[in-house]
Amino acid sequence: MKKTILITGGAGFIGSHVVRRFVNHYPEYLIVNGDKLTYAGNLENLSDIESRSNYRFEKIDIVDKEAVAVLFSKYNFDGVIHLAAESHVDRSITGPDEFVFTNIIGTVNLLNSARSSWKESPEGKQFYHISTDEVYGSLGKEGLFTEETAYDPKSPYSASKASSDHLVRAYNHTFGIPVIISNCSNNYGPNQFPEKLIPLAINNIKNNKPIPVYGKGENIRDWLYVEDHASAIDLIFHKGKTGETYNIGGNNEWKNIDLILLLCSILDRKLKRPVGTSEKLITYVTDRPGHDLRYAIDSSKLQTELGWSPIPEFAVGLEKTVDWYLSNEKWLERVLSGDYGKYYDQMYSGR
Ligand code: NAD
Ligand code: DAU
Repeated sequence: MKKTILITGGAGFIGSHVVRRFVNHYPEYLIVNGDKLTYAGNLENLSDIESRSNYRFEKIDIVDKEAVAVLFSKYNFDGVIHLAAESHVDRSITGPDEFVFTNIIGTVNLLNSARSSWKESPEGKQFYHISTDEVYGSLGKEGLFTEETAYDPKSPYSASKASSDHLVRAYNHTFGIPVIISNCSNNYGPNQFPEKLIPLAINNIKNNKPIPVYGKGENIRDWLYVEDHASAIDLIFHKGKTGETYNIGGNNEWKNIDLILLLCSILDRKLKRPVGTSEKLITYVTDRPGHDLRYAIDSSKLQTELGWSPIPEFAVGLEKTVDWYLSNEKWLERVLSGDYGKYYDQMYSGR
């Protein structure tokens, strides 16, 4: 094996696409997926590659520093791609503590283990931290987030991610740990937990349930197909410059309400419903507290320096995503049972 790489959060939405890509593209690597399997972690996402000889799963809570140290001494990792996180803004508003534990303490535990494991020979090692555009705060109608935009996080989620970004840079500056950070815009695609806007809307439309639109639906997000994020992570991990930050985005801004109207029309067609049927499910609800107005990423550094570009047109990516959810009903049923059912009732009962 040429390299042993720890991918944290590999059972989650983006992590599972990254694990699959690395297991398929790099048979000479040993890929270790370290995941706690919270409500958002689902090993079913990886059933197609779970028996590969270059793949291992390790159930681990990154908040448990002893367990993290034991994992590092078991595998002697050459690289870490760190995706494990609490990732949903609404959950960070109803319960911020878990975000502090996992996103901040968990990241420090990984950094400490990488530091002691790599202290003799840091050459060729890489700690790659996956972050979000939300650390930059909220944009007005104009402008884009660049790698130089000052941090201004507004939610407990984005504040915990900003904190972890600062710690990663500080460990590089103070202890010389080789690190890279990327900050990405909103992802969509197969396997996303249906608490996030796109899969939630698809699932509700399919089941004739109200589509909750926060506020007036005028907030803007920059959407990127999840496999494009995975391809960017692959490129940055292999070709990115240590110590650098790269922004990743789709150059694909959509007002929430326009995106939901588009989804309604796609689903009317696919479900053979009369035009305009699904739109009637749109229900305006109380806004998210502190709701960021607009995110939009300038990814020109990644495009010009490393030659990355996103592939599917949004219409193509969205069709693929809708098709995946419509043909994976069992996956949806299973992830929607248990903990998520209670959370869903709590979130939407008063709205
Ligand atoms: P997700 O919620 O779908 O998955 C998170 C994964 O982390 C799950 O498998 C979960 O079990 C695991 N996890 C959570 N707490 C853990 C702990 N204490 N120890 C070990 N594992 C734990 O998240 P996602 O949407 O796939 O996001 C992955 C990463 O990408 C996050 O760091 C997120 O901040 C970042 N990101 C997400 C987006 C997006 O649009 N989803 C955009 C930019 C950046
Ligand atoms: O920008 C990157 C971030 O994108 C990631 O770091 C986060 O992990 C990810 O969850 C996502 O955050 P958002 O808050 O932008 O995503 P979400 O899907 O929760 O919401 C998208 C937009 O839709 C946002 O403006 C809130 C709105 N919304 C969301 C839900 C769940 C609604 O109007 N109704 C809803 O029911």
